[in-house]
Amino acid sequence: MHNAAFAALGLNWRYLAFEVDPKQLRAAIAGAQAMKFTGLNLTVPHKLLAVDMVDALDESAKVWGAVNTIRFEGRTTQSDWLPLREFNHCVPVETRTQGFNTDAAGLAASLREDLNFDLQGKKVLLLGAGGAGRTAALKLASENVLELFLVNRTFSKTLELQVEITRNFPSVYVGLGYPKTEVDLVINATSLGLKSGDASPLDEKEFSLKQTRAVYDMIYRPAETTLLKAAKAAGCKTANGLGMLLHQGAKAFEIWTGQPAPLDVMRRALEQNVYGH
Ligand code: ATR
Repeated sequence: MHNAAFAALGLNWRYLAFEVDPKQLRAAIAGAQAMKFTGLNLTVPHKLLAVDMVDALDESAKVWGAVNTIRFEGRTTQSDWLPLREFNHCVPVETRTQGFNTDAAGLAASLREDLNFDLQGKKVLLLGAGGAGRTAALKLASENVLELFLVNRTFSKTLELQVEITRNFPSVYVGLGYPKTEVDLVINATSLGLKSGDASPLDEKEFSLKQTRAVYDMIYRPAETTLLKAAKAAGCKTANGLGMLLHQGAKAFEIWTGQPAPLDVMRRALEQNVYGH
């Protein structure tokens, strides 16, 4: 999606994938910096490690405690730090790394666009309290959901998350376990559904899909998980995580280029790449 977007904007840039051993993450970032890369994306398991490896942290990375986007910046003669794109062909002597996180904003943008869902004042059941679940829970709380119910295989993680949310967003009610009442949205942030034959992450003996209006699954491959299939059959509005992938990418694109991301071009490239049509 990034290469399609660069082409659409006439930028002579390339987005490439590299597999990096976590033990070599620091060296990999330094290497990219030395080669005057414009920026990087990082994914599992590097997002948490990178927090301690960048020179500056944007508010988004501080809040979510994880870095999925790095921008390389150069020092101007006035001692300001500017993205490398601003320097044209005169490469600055001194550069630094700044870490950002676009995952949470990507989720909120996708919920808005794909489900027409505004989080404020809503009741949400969130399945999963790992890395993705934690970021989602904090984002939902920061967008002023009214009630948030947390369910996770390992109960202690929901307890820790409840403490963290209550400390930072005291007005949000955080319940542990399945709600007895109806909710507006169920979000799957577990990895259950990625593999064929995986069970649904939702225990329908504890919570019926009739109790929610909408279901969002962060998994985008397969396009329709067991959970989404059941949700559709129960008459819920549904969306998968492709929109979250798109929007976190679009926000990273804007951080690097300083230009609005060509969303339609990126969405088409992503669908082509992920689903082959
Ligand atoms: P990510 O960064 O993608 O969120 P993660 O931090 O490893 O990855 O989190 C994976 C999530 O899927 C967790 O909520 C995990 O539950 P645990 O905290 O109990 O490990 C959940 N998960 C993974 N496999 C599962 C399974 N077989 N049944 C239920 N939950 C599962």
